[in-house]
Amino acid sequence: MDTTPVFSVEGLWKVFGPKADRVPGDPELTALDPAELRSRTGCTAAVRDVSFDVRKGEVFVVMGLSGSGKSTLVRCLTRLIEPTAGTIAIDGEDVRAMDRSRLRELRRHRAAMVFQHFGLLPHRTVLDNVAYGLEIQGMGKAERREKAAEVIAKVGLEGLEHRRPGQLSGGQQQRVGLARALAVDPEVLLFDEPFSALDPLIRREMQEEVIRLHRDEGRTMVFITHDLQEALKLGDRIALMRDGRVVQLGTPEEIVGSPADDYVRDFVRDVPREQVMTVRTAMRRPSADQDGNGPAVRPDATVSEAIEAVARAGAPARVVDKGRCVGVVDSDTLLGVVAGTEQPAPPGTEQPKEAV
Ligand SMILES: Nc1ncnc2c1ncn2[C@@H]1O[C@H](COP(=O)(O)OP(=O)(O)OP(=O)(O)O)[C@@H](O)[C@H]1O
Ligand SMILES: [Mg+2]
Repeated sequence: MDTTPVFSVEGLWKVFGPKADRVPGDPELTALDPAELRSRTGCTAAVRDVSFDVRKGEVFVVMGLSGSGKSTLVRCLTRLIEPTAGTIAIDGEDVRAMDRSRLRELRRHRAAMVFQHFGLLPHRTVLDNVAYGLEIQGMGKAERREKAAEVIAKVGLEGLEHRRPGQLSGGQQQRVGLARALAVDPEVLLFDEPFSALDPLIRREMQEEVIRLHRDEGRTMVFITHDLQEALKLGDRIALMRDGRVVQLGTPEEIVGSPADDYVRDFVRDVPREQVMTVRTAMRRPSADQDGNGPAVRPDATVSEAIEAVARAGAPARVVDKGRCVGVVDSDTLLGVVAGTEQPAPPGTEQPKEAV
């Protein structure tokens, strides 16, 4: 299996303002909080010393409040914004060392962006909007239209090929934006709050579309949102940003179950824990007499699903992984998770972990 990350980011900084270059290397300046830094230097550190990998096939969510640096971070990945310091690699290739033509290739073929306000060309039809990326790649008209029609069908826009963006609803326009990004068959899709302008029902439909693309095509995606529910729903892993820093990076379960600090704890306070936490976190060792009794649940079943199974059977459930009972959950441990009194076991403690 190829485990090279799609993106690998190390010590990334983006500082806006006068003599921005001096900030990342100056310990006195980097120690300042954002307001102090601004008043002392006139600079804004939009991204501060950020490191992460985006793995092949994952949905990597960047979440944070307005102004926390999400857009700046994702734009740095393809150098739509020039980083101030740090390294960025795509498939092991140094992005900061790329010349203009290599960068163009990166943006046209390898990493396609879907924007919040769609960014469609108003005078072109849906078909030609979707084909646009292929056109600038130099593909011939017949071929690109054929390819565009295929992608249009995939995102559910058949029949609307000859309309112009102004004749579409917001949700339909965003499907065009998504289709345009998909048409170039990029290795990674970058989404900058693509659904925040959509009403809740359409938004949910678009989220399902992203989940489907992820599941059926194994697309790697970097998805920005300030919406926690959306982050938890879509993300395999979530990087939570505050003032330019990543304050926690983890699975939804890790973020909700073990918030790194008070800021994160506050952020996730209202999340229904039983819908995010899995029985893997809640289970305890099976005792000899419990093996073989009770309903079976998978280790990645949610606590909410396990509660249902336990309630229906009136007995503790067995957590079964690859035919082996790896733990037991009863109503006490499950309710402990809901109440937040059951803390996930840190790695290396005696809780049985499934064999991976
Ligand atoms: N071109 C710029 N010049 C100066 N400061 C900038 C520039 N672009 C962004 N900033 C500042 O950098 C910080 C991060 O901005 P960014 O747009 O990345 O935030 P965001 O998390 O995407 O916010 P939102 O959710 O509102 O889109 C903000 O304080 C912003 O004012
Ligand atoms: Mg933004």
